[in-house]
Amino acid sequence: MTQSDLTQSDVTRPDVTRSRPGTGPAEPGESPEQLRERVAALLGRSRERSTRLTDLDDGELQAQHSPLMSPLVWDLAHIGSQEELWLVRDVGGREPLRPEIDGLYDAFQHSRSSRVELPLLTPAEARRYVGEVRDKALDVLHRSPMRGRPLERDGFAFGMIVAHEQQHDETMLATHQLRSGARVLDAPAPPRPAAPVDAAAEVPVPAGPFEMGTSAEPWALDNERPAHTVDLAAFVIDAYPVTNGRYTAFVDDGGYDDRRWWTDTGWAHRIAEDLSAPRFWSRDTDGTWWRRRFGAVEPVPADEPVVHVTFHEAQAFARWAGKRLPTEAEWEKAARFDPVTGRSRRFPWGDDEPTAAHANLGQRHLQPAPVGAYPGGASALGVHQMLGDVWEWCDSGWHPYPGFRMFPYPEYSEVFFGGDYAVLRGGSFGTDPSAVRATFRNWDHPIRRQIFSGFRLARDAGPDI
Ligand SMILES: [Fe+2]
Repeated sequence: MTQSDLTQSDVTRPDVTRSRPGTGPAEPGESPEQLRERVAALLGRSRERSTRLTDLDDGELQAQHSPLMSPLVWDLAHIGSQEELWLVRDVGGREPLRPEIDGLYDAFQHSRSSRVELPLLTPAEARRYVGEVRDKALDVLHRSPMRGRPLERDGFAFGMIVAHEQQHDETMLATHQLRSGARVLDAPAPPRPAAPVDAAAEVPVPAGPFEMGTSAEPWALDNERPAHTVDLAAFVIDAYPVTNGRYTAFVDDGGYDDRRWWTDTGWAHRIAEDLSAPRFWSRDTDGTWWRRRFGAVEPVPADEPVVHVTFHEAQAFARWAGKRLPTEAEWEKAARFDPVTGRSRRFPWGDDEPTAAHANLGQRHLQPAPVGAYPGGASALGVHQMLGDVWEWCDSGWHPYPGFRMFPYPEYSEVFFGGDYAVLRGGSFGTDPSAVRATFRNWDHPIRRQIFSGFRLARDAGPDI
């Protein structure tokens, strides 16, 4: 399992309360029985989603829809393989089910573009395999004390496997977006704001220290740890992610042809790939912008956050707009810091698990929601839609926090530190609530845009703050 697999969910029961098994990460202080019930529900939900995303004929499941992606049937069996390795063999101490296929589904042994050549399990074999693994994993779950060694404490390994399956579900959702042919997924439209909002509104963030990262979140990954104090100068951040409407102004202003707005690396990529608009956009003869979304072609909606842009495009837009991308620390302070209490929240809106009123998460909708659609999810500082809708590029490389300790294995995040990556924050409409929180960190190559990536702008505070 690696987070690079992600480049990273379906909730059909979004209106949960704390009295039922949650849809989000583990809750501090749960009893082992409550935790097992929560894990079982989360495992079931992730499998429902995986099943829906692989409800295609064998040819579609075995095809390579893009060199950037694995065949869907690889993702499915890989989900089972990781569940077997961690839950059945490691936590459960059980005998391997299919040791001969371990290498086929090791993400480090085979590039995504080469996996189609492997002697993979057929769709029927893959479905049988993941079902057999799940039966054994549930048996292990019901026998686990949920305490003791770190891998089992607070159900960490189970949470890691839930998140892993959901991350691959988001990856498979991206494959659905890349495949040609008619749409096979469906979902209702996202909510709309009660009244139009100023898409370019800004929020001042006062200077001072805040707590970044976490040492308390039970299922936080090694790269989110430990909690540490970061002191920032005052800055200003956009209240909303940059919309298609704002982005179209950049495109129509010749932004893709104006060298001034691009870094050297960004310009080289823009030329090499002949970029001229976000991926999946096209312009007709009368100048109207259209987009292809999961097999359907529709006008580009002006009030939705722009999606499918590279870090380089985000940076060029920011320069054109006279602003910049936020750093990762600025993003997290805007999302978590409560100036009244001085503490950092689990989620922008507080410590309660995400619901349908907070954020566009979990593949409930197959697109970002218009800006202003989630007033209930705003942060204490008044910044909206920081979780869900689109992953947000930050102007920060991929580095460990001070005091980082690798756990449970270096390939999760440690081996990627210092590489050619930029950080993404906040999750997208395709990210499950169990796989994201305000401390969650994602990363990818700055040239990637098959992911559900967008951004928001920031600037240094002027004398007006
Ligand atoms: Fe993986």
